[in-house]
Amino acid sequence: MSSNSIEKNYLLKMTKKLFVKTHGCQMNEYDSAKMIDLLKAEEDFELVDSEDQADLLILNTCSIREKAQERVFHQIGRWRKIKEVKPDLKIAIGGCVASQEGEKIIKRAPSVDIVFGPQSLHNLPKLYKDKDSTNKPQVDISFPKLEKFDHIPMPDRGEASAFVSIVEGCNKYCSFCVVPKTRGHEVSRNVEDILKEVTILAEKGTKEIHFLGQNVNNFKGLYKGEISSLAKLIELTAEIENIERIRFTTSHPHEFKDDLVETYAKVPELVSHVHLPVQSGSDRILKLMRRRYTAEKYLILIDKLKKVRPDMRFSSDFIVGFPGETKQDFTDTMNIINEVKFDESYSFIYSARPDTPAAIMEDDVSQVEKKERLNILQARLNQLSYGYSRKMVGSLQKCLVTGISKKDPGQLQGRTICDRVVNFRSDSIDLVGQLINIRINDALPNCLRGSIQN
Ligand code: SAH
Ligand code: F3S
Repeated sequence: MSSNSIEKNYLLKMTKKLFVKTHGCQMNEYDSAKMIDLLKAEEDFELVDSEDQADLLILNTCSIREKAQERVFHQIGRWRKIKEVKPDLKIAIGGCVASQEGEKIIKRAPSVDIVFGPQSLHNLPKLYKDKDSTNKPQVDISFPKLEKFDHIPMPDRGEASAFVSIVEGCNKYCSFCVVPKTRGHEVSRNVEDILKEVTILAEKGTKEIHFLGQNVNNFKGLYKGEISSLAKLIELTAEIENIERIRFTTSHPHEFKDDLVETYAKVPELVSHVHLPVQSGSDRILKLMRRRYTAEKYLILIDKLKKVRPDMRFSSDFIVGFPGETKQDFTDTMNIINEVKFDESYSFIYSARPDTPAAIMEDDVSQVEKKERLNILQARLNQLSYGYSRKMVGSLQKCLVTGISKKDPGQLQGRTICDRVVNFRSDSIDLVGQLINIRINDALPNCLRGSIQN
């Protein structure tokens, strides 16, 4: 083949355009970033920020609560209208709804071309090609054991803060939760594989590593052929040059062993902030939820962590209105909130999920009552969180500059140790990716305002 014809072929191969929308958790954000890397590398896609320009639309879905699931079909409906005027457009549905519903998605929404699960996202380029060549809808919601990490390319950029998945799936089977079904059994990545990803990120400028998994503290990846732990992984990560902050989400209270508590004493890079979902303060409800701890055990763990790091802040997830939750159960939850004084937390009304034990439990609490309890709980959580923010006014905070403020391009955005957003005026874009001291001047309900301290 002459060099001329290679050139022609190259010109004929047009770059295709990709648009990705992500619902749900940080794990989904991580998976979406990996889908983009894969399709760029293998199928010459480029990312666009408008749905109308795209040749392939991907929706990475969440099924944790019923509302999240319904959003998927509304979104497909909107995309179908684009497809009516652009018949070559392909629609792919990934994530937990895809995993849960599989082919049923295509039956309900025939405009969908590809359905793939969280553990088979590495097959996306093949599914796309097969759809293109056969014009038949493609479904792959299999759970090949961690195979995806052998296929996804290593990162080609280093954001200031980067997610790194270390455990996939979950074996806890909390009675309300759909995740073990949609993401499959818990599997840990090898330590060497994770450290390679972290090293590449660090070389490209990443300063903060945020380890991800449903139960990161049950991490059991192999290191030099032997089973390792999250504590060991954190120590090894802190030794990597340029890594200045380490976080992890989510940890399960039952799995938070002493070696991890001690890591807070040994590794200064590990932030003094831990997300430790308690869900409820009532032992009766915790048992029905199959959470494997009591309120007392949870409080003992909080005390242990505070002993090692007196400035430690805790955030949590709460489920309000679990089937049969009494007024006393709810009061127990409010009591634990007042005891721990949680920082920025997430709270939800219980939502029955298909094929989970809680879905068939008797429930005599009305939706109105549940909503009222949620309002009370959220008001208290917001009050506590705003209290922490107000206490920070006047103080100096070490912040990792993560980018330009979304609302005001004249401002940069940083994150404090406890992951609060701080906006500050600066036109020095070079500061992005650096840890700098910011004087906090003002506390707003959802962010802080500050100024650079030289
Ligand atoms: N692995 C994490 C939780 C992942 S799901 C843990 O161990 O806690 C994120 C949060 O969604 C949960 O902590 C819970 O608060 C909430 N959640 C999960 N299933 C839910 C349901 N059926 N209804 C309401 N909230 C739910
Ligand atoms: Fe869900 Fe419980 Fe696992 S909340 S993700 S089953 S720890």
